[in-house]
Amino acid sequence: MTTSREWHLVRRPQGWPVPDDFRLVEREVDDPPKGYVLVRNIAMSVDPYMRGRMNDAESYAAPYQLNEPMYGGVVGRVEKSQEPALPEGTVVRHGLGWREWAVVPARQCEPVDPTSDGVPPSAYLGVLGMPGLTAWVGVFDIAQARGGETMFVSAAAGAVGSIAGQLAKLAGLRVVGSAGTAGKVDWLRKIGFDAAFNYHDGDVTKQLAAAAPEGIDCYFDNVGGDHLRAALAVIKPFGRIAECGMISAYNEAIPGPDNLFFIVGKKLTVRGFIVSDHSDREPVFRHHVSTLIRDGKLVFEETHRTGIESALDALLDVLRGGKHTGKMVVDLSS
Ligand SMILES: NC(=O)c1ccc[n+]([C@@H]2O[C@H](COP(=O)([O-])OP(=O)(O)OC[C@H]3O[C@@H](n4cnc5c(N)ncnc54)[C@H](OP(=O)(O)O)[C@@H]3O)[C@@H](O)[C@H]2O)c1
Repeated sequence: MTTSREWHLVRRPQGWPVPDDFRLVEREVDDPPKGYVLVRNIAMSVDPYMRGRMNDAESYAAPYQLNEPMYGGVVGRVEKSQEPALPEGTVVRHGLGWREWAVVPARQCEPVDPTSDGVPPSAYLGVLGMPGLTAWVGVFDIAQARGGETMFVSAAAGAVGSIAGQLAKLAGLRVVGSAGTAGKVDWLRKIGFDAAFNYHDGDVTKQLAAAAPEGIDCYFDNVGGDHLRAALAVIKPFGRIAECGMISAYNEAIPGPDNLFFIVGKKLTVRGFIVSDHSDREPVFRHHVSTLIRDGKLVFEETHRTGIESALDALLDVLRGGKHTGKMVVDLSS
């Protein structure tokens, strides 16, 4: 038996989550039965979509159950194995995050190889994981970015946005990003964005129009609300919008854009997508992005918090913004 701590959802948040909606619970974890492995989790992901799982509502992601452990992407090391294909010491990615130890069906573990990819294990939760694939699919398959065009990316200094912007730039686009602090805006310029602005500095439409005086051809939307309104105002006829997320509306009701008629008048293509529908793109994404990293053409940033007790604050900071750059990761063990 191994002692582990795990986060439970004990009450469904109304609006912004508060600490009383959650409980850190200690429990004993059994040895793995046949076909299972015992994994000591190394690093876990906190992602905006987890907020949706706290609601008891039908969605693309099943709701978390009350008084049960939450879950999500995590990387860990096999410590005890009842599956010959996953010997002790194998580093795996699996879906039982929000806990220090997990007994996982071997078929739900994906071995990863940080040494050969030259990245830390946490990279499989970010640039080489779900957010990286989201950025890649959103830029190439959904927005159908083409060299010579201009793309606007919101939440551009985050896990998805920072990779989306760099991929678009490497594909020959002019890239404009928005973020919520001066430090993030500076960082965006440093990693190759052609223009960047702080959305707290003033009207988003005015700032976007100044950063893209000739308009934009495509918009990678992570925010919705005022950012979507700005993109609709500035986008050119026949522009494309990749609807990746609308984080400004995850915790509070906000007014929708009042200029949706531009979709008609400008003959726009607006396409939402969920990354889990695009797992067939994983091999080509993985090869492309790991090559770009190895060649020093694409950089990735991670913000690390330490210990399972910090995981809830880490998620709340992702939702509120301002505190992390790149991918937010919680280190659980080394
Ligand atoms: N469609 C899919 O399959 C898929 C998959 C993964 C993620 N997503 C979506 O992609 C988006 C980014 O996710 P991520 O994991 O990369 O998170 P992230 O960008 O690393 O973190 C979220 C960021 O959103 C920004 N933000 C929060 N509230 C905002 C507001 N009201 N206005 C403007 N910006 C705001 C904050 O950045 P600042 O500090 O700059 O304010 C915050 O840091 C989210 O909408 C998420 O739901 C979609």
